[in-house]
Amino acid sequence: MNQLRPGFAALSFVTFAATVAAWAADDWSAFAPPHARAPWGPAEAGSSMPIGKPVTIKPPLGLPPVSFPPDNPPTAETIALGRKLFREPLFSKDGTVSCSSCHDAKSGYSDARQFSPGVDSKLGGRHSMTLLNSAYHLTQFWDGRALSLEDQAQFPVRDPLEMAHSLVGVERRLAAKPEYVRLFTQAFGPGPITYEKVAKCIASYERTLLSGNSPFDRYYYGGDKTAMSASAIRGLKLFQDFTLDGPNCISCHRIEEKWATFTEPRFHNTGVSVNPATNEMHDLGRFHVTQAKQDQGGFKVVTLRNVAITAPYMHDGSIKTLEEAVEFYFQGGRKNPYLSGVVPHAGVPNIPAAQREQAKADLVAFMKALTGTMPVDK
Ligand code: HEC
Ligand code: HEC
Repeated sequence: MNQLRPGFAALSFVTFAATVAAWAADDWSAFAPPHARAPWGPAEAGSSMPIGKPVTIKPPLGLPPVSFPPDNPPTAETIALGRKLFREPLFSKDGTVSCSSCHDAKSGYSDARQFSPGVDSKLGGRHSMTLLNSAYHLTQFWDGRALSLEDQAQFPVRDPLEMAHSLVGVERRLAAKPEYVRLFTQAFGPGPITYEKVAKCIASYERTLLSGNSPFDRYYYGGDKTAMSASAIRGLKLFQDFTLDGPNCISCHRIEEKWATFTEPRFHNTGVSVNPATNEMHDLGRFHVTQAKQDQGGFKVVTLRNVAITAPYMHDGSIKTLEEAVEFYFQGGRKNPYLSGVVPHAGVPNIPAAQREQAKADLVAFMKALTGTMPVDK
């Protein structure tokens, strides 16, 4: 994994606390991805404003509006260039690995493999999650170490297990290609190709990777009562049941009045990282960023939208099917001192033994109803 820049962890923690406070107050406007956080700092910010006409990204049914940093309004030129850069293997040291190598459109921009090979086929220890709807995340990565999509876009380049390269190296290679010089000039006006511009294009492209209008959205927000099966409707009820001993999925995978992201900004320990044989955690997750004891084994609440097409599951890709994932929760997660207070309730003692199999099948049917329309990506 990447080293954090000095001061980064502290900054991330303060800003994160503020956003959780806003979340508690149910103030969606504060959910705007954090701004002015780009690693290149405020001195340079604004030096690379896209010059094109800003476009409106229209979210499909069931999703909130998309926000973006004031110095990176999406334009047709930056989005198209971001799409091209996302597929550009020159980003990696040996010219073999692009962002799309590990975030495959066919797998909902995730990776069907447990771990994704980087340069020299090196493997990391975390699963490549879906990028669909990543526009809405307050932090990026399983441990939230990146604070915006712009910020995130520099990490894979410098990660020795992924692209094993440098930001300057990418700038130089792109600057050597007349086609890129032309495209960056069209997008930002004349000037050098900087990684700041590169990151802005990639982030704007990612903000267009929205997926909604799923059977669930048509049922819940569109008023189409026939859009979900009876089993999925029962599953939705279970999912929302946050009585003391209910499945309680919704307290972390949130559904709001007008939209649903199936995530929330806090990090939770569900025990995935615990080895039951030794009781040790193989990945301390959020702790890597905050160094706070209680964050050990805490991970981002990954969205459940499109979960049927983004297997394998969890930060370590250790769970292969949705049935297994539900079983994991029905067992109450994996015990450890930092297990989230809400998870034991997911041990669902209020579902009688005779009804458990049906309840599990219904929850799976519900999650399968979360597969949405795919973004136009060409
Ligand atoms: C070698 C495989 C690999 C490559 C190449 C790669 N990624 Fe990833 N990506 C991952 C993995 C694995 C994670 C999760 C890592 C973690 O959380 O520590 C991830 C996480 C992310 C996330 C966070 C999503 C979320 O919901 O938190 C974003 C955004 C992302 N990648 C975008 C990109 C972009 C843009 C590029 C190209 C510049 C890229 N990735 C290149 C494997 C890869
Ligand atoms: C305490 C918060 C919490 C509750 C309650 C909760 N989840 Fe999760 N969920 C998480 C976190 C955190 C992760 C990622 C954990 C990890 O990778 O270590 C996750 C991951 C998942 C995944 C894997 C998705 C993927 O793409 O990898 C599925 C499926 C899932 N949850 C379904 C459910 C269901 C169904 C319920 C209710 C029975 C539920 N969750 C209850 C927090 C929660």
